[in-house]
Amino acid sequence: MNIDGKPTRTIWLAADGLGVEIIDQTRLPHEFVVTRLDTLEAAERAIREMWVRGAPLIGATAAYGMALALRSDPSESRLDEAYRRLFATRPTAVNLRWALDDMRAVLHPLPPAERLVAAYRQAGRIADDDVAINAAIGEHGLAVMRRLWDERRAAGAERLNLLTHCNAGWLATVDWGTALAPVYKAQQAGIPLHVWVDETRPRNQGASLTARELNWQGVPHTVIVDNAGGHLMQHGLVDICIVGTDRTTASGDVCNKIGTYLKALAAKDNRVPFYVALPGPTIDWTIDDGVQSIPIEERDSAEVTHLAGRTAEGKLLTVQLTPDGSPAINYGFDVTPARLITGLITERGVCPASRDGLLSLYPERRPNA
Ligand code: MRU
Repeated sequence: MNIDGKPTRTIWLAADGLGVEIIDQTRLPHEFVVTRLDTLEAAERAIREMWVRGAPLIGATAAYGMALALRSDPSESRLDEAYRRLFATRPTAVNLRWALDDMRAVLHPLPPAERLVAAYRQAGRIADDDVAINAAIGEHGLAVMRRLWDERRAAGAERLNLLTHCNAGWLATVDWGTALAPVYKAQQAGIPLHVWVDETRPRNQGASLTARELNWQGVPHTVIVDNAGGHLMQHGLVDICIVGTDRTTASGDVCNKIGTYLKALAAKDNRVPFYVALPGPTIDWTIDDGVQSIPIEERDSAEVTHLAGRTAEGKLLTVQLTPDGSPAINYGFDVTPARLITGLITERGVCPASRDGLLSLYPERRPNA
């Protein structure tokens, strides 16, 4: 997307063709800092400490991380070590496993001397594919929004109100985003749109990242506390919810940032369409029951007990919210069962959140296909 008129991705190869540059998302929204990664350790740290985050961007960074690992040693054992270490960085987003498997499948059969060049090439391909996939999700999501807008306009509405949770925008991907790709396409298509942005405690990816990118793109939006969505839906102020996902099961259960499930329940109760936007690599075809089978990341409880922000003097500060001695627990994700989801928006079209729905778009995944 454009920042101050300059087309910008979240990850790119440095000018020397060896290092990898990223936007350090821990510094947003108040500072825009580009950081260079040169080693496997740096890529691991960038993912674990969430300098980069969002399922597709985690996958792309891991792919580049594998290339960085091979700079010092293109051997088989280094390849295995890089896979193991990058895989351990974050447990929930399945794009991580997908990207590492893809890299290993390409690199493993090659003689060591050919691996480094091939690794950069394949990581670049994964990043470029992500951009194309998300642009296609945007087009399919636009069709959903256009239909809804036609209905609402006929009923006298002046704008379409969309609610989103966490950040599934271009900052969570290489470009375009998943849940926000339809928003940007709708903006380009002239649909008058307003986005309710869940702040998304505890790390506030909504308040800091989604708000930041909507702000950059000039999309009208309002940040709300996580608990406000149900109230807005009861009063007819939400026309559609679109969220992203870190892992979608073969039967259409969706794992996304903690709190997504509660939004889906409120949407169901208020007959608000609830869509999930996802690229193919976010589907985990090996599992069915999301609640039972998806590993839920538990992060440092300090993310719950403390809050970071900017003071009136412009200083960045972290403060403690809770009393000394009160324990906290920090589950990163929850699972929204398929029955609460109106539809899945993929790069191949929109389908019901069900096994048959997904197989209709990905027929190559049918047993015996
Ligand atoms: O913990 P994060 O910030 O990596 O969580 C991100 C999300 O939950 C996104 O909604 C999800 O990864 C989809 S990104 C297109």
